[in-house]
Amino acid sequence: MAKENKKNTLTLTDHRTGKTYDVEIGEGSTLRAMDLRQIKVNADEFGMMGYDPAFTNTASCRSTVTMIDGERGILWYRGYPIEQLAEQSNFLEVTHLLIRGELPTREELEYWTYEITHHTFLHENVKKLLEGFRYDAHPMGMLVSVLAALSTFYPEARDVRDPECRRKQIYRLIGKTPTIAAFAYRHSRGLPLVYPDNDLSYTGNFLNMLWKMSEVKYEPNPVLEKALDVLFLLHGDHEQNCSANAMRSVGSSEVDPYCAAAAAAAALYGPLHGGANEAVLRMLNEIGHRKNVAAYIERVKQGEVLLMGFGHRVYKNYDPRARIIKRIADEVFEVTGRNPLIDIAKELEKIALEDDYFVSRRLYPNVDFYSGSIYQAMGFPVEMYPVLFAIGRMPGWLAQWEEMLTDKEQKIARPRQVYVGSPQRDYVPLEKRGKSPAKAAS
Ligand code: SDX
Repeated sequence: MAKENKKNTLTLTDHRTGKTYDVEIGEGSTLRAMDLRQIKVNADEFGMMGYDPAFTNTASCRSTVTMIDGERGILWYRGYPIEQLAEQSNFLEVTHLLIRGELPTREELEYWTYEITHHTFLHENVKKLLEGFRYDAHPMGMLVSVLAALSTFYPEARDVRDPECRRKQIYRLIGKTPTIAAFAYRHSRGLPLVYPDNDLSYTGNFLNMLWKMSEVKYEPNPVLEKALDVLFLLHGDHEQNCSANAMRSVGSSEVDPYCAAAAAAAALYGPLHGGANEAVLRMLNEIGHRKNVAAYIERVKQGEVLLMGFGHRVYKNYDPRARIIKRIADEVFEVTGRNPLIDIAKELEKIALEDDYFVSRRLYPNVDFYSGSIYQAMGFPVEMYPVLFAIGRMPGWLAQWEEMLTDKEQKIARPRQVYVGSPQRDYVPLEKRGKSPAKAAS
């Protein structure tokens, strides 16, 4: 390759063969893993692969949805800084931005809101499905199940290559997720289900389906309605996080979006991901008082426990969402009364940010660190917190899913592996296998 053409390439030398390879450096300073396949010792080899457990340094796609700058603690949805969206926008408008790629005009927003508002009801049979769960079933288990079950009510959703079909399912999933969440909550409390009230805002209706009792018309508290709406917006999308990766990977088999969303919600449920907000509250309750914080921090530093709500694969600075959530807490507490657990959280943050264990590992509060204290003050039981995360993240999953389907470079996800198992060996008939050690037989 001529010298001037080498400018945007890497030259790799394989000292096993002395061969050199000029490999193009792609956008975002990337190397196409397939360009490594040419590197072989013998011509009949498979060729070289990249090896990257947990994809810590692998770009799985090119995306225009969300941008995170982990070093500087920056988050944009479609180029708009999260701070401006939290201040000036609302959740439904942000769902349009994430999925359609642009802030809607007034007419577009009215149409988008109408469509989602008129897709909030669930098939009556879903009530029977929910009745099959124990009273103490975790609502994330119910959400995952009902999301997958919706694929049986809308079999036409399998036509994932049809844009109009995708759009209809997107309205349904954004519209129905709060209804599933509220029905799961009411089931766990043995309360009658409350149907959607289309006069209310998206978030106001969610509060209606959760909290309405004998009053004729539920009236959401505007401060709590606004605070929860911003919390949903802050959870809208977050690049290729674990659950977005699940949505893309499962969706790449061209399964319907309900089953793909069920997989994404299942990934979110884990305590290292969206389940962390629930784990943070359990941690704060375990600590119990500010005077116990120092001892807990010591346990973290000994590796006994994680400081839940701290740390992030991408942010090596303060999660900008955590900063905003911390501010929302004060507004909510004005209405609900202060949640004393937040003082334990603030003491944890204060000590952690001065302690070299956390500073050296660049561990900061993430989106889950403060959100649970707000949810608790609003009256949500701790097991509902990941469900609230899922409501906020649904538009992000759908935006990532649709971007994957319309990306010409994408196809069914099927990673490779490095085989380190047994060499070939022959089958041994049962009678020739000898005895197991005593303990294994018990
Ligand atoms: C979310 O990906 C996303 O964008 C996710 C999310 C989104 O919006 O979708 O932002 C939402 O999932 C936020 C994260 C919620 N999870 C938690 O709060 C759980 C606690 N956090 C950790 O489990 C951890 O920080 C992760 C999972 C979030 C990130 O883990 P990484 O990137 O794999 O980091 P790591 O485990 O390699 O940690 C590096 C070091 C290790 O120490 P050493 O082995 O180097 O000695 O930091 C330590 C870890 O032990 N560490 C922690 C810690 N997090 C990392 N030590 C104590 N407490 C923690 N929370």
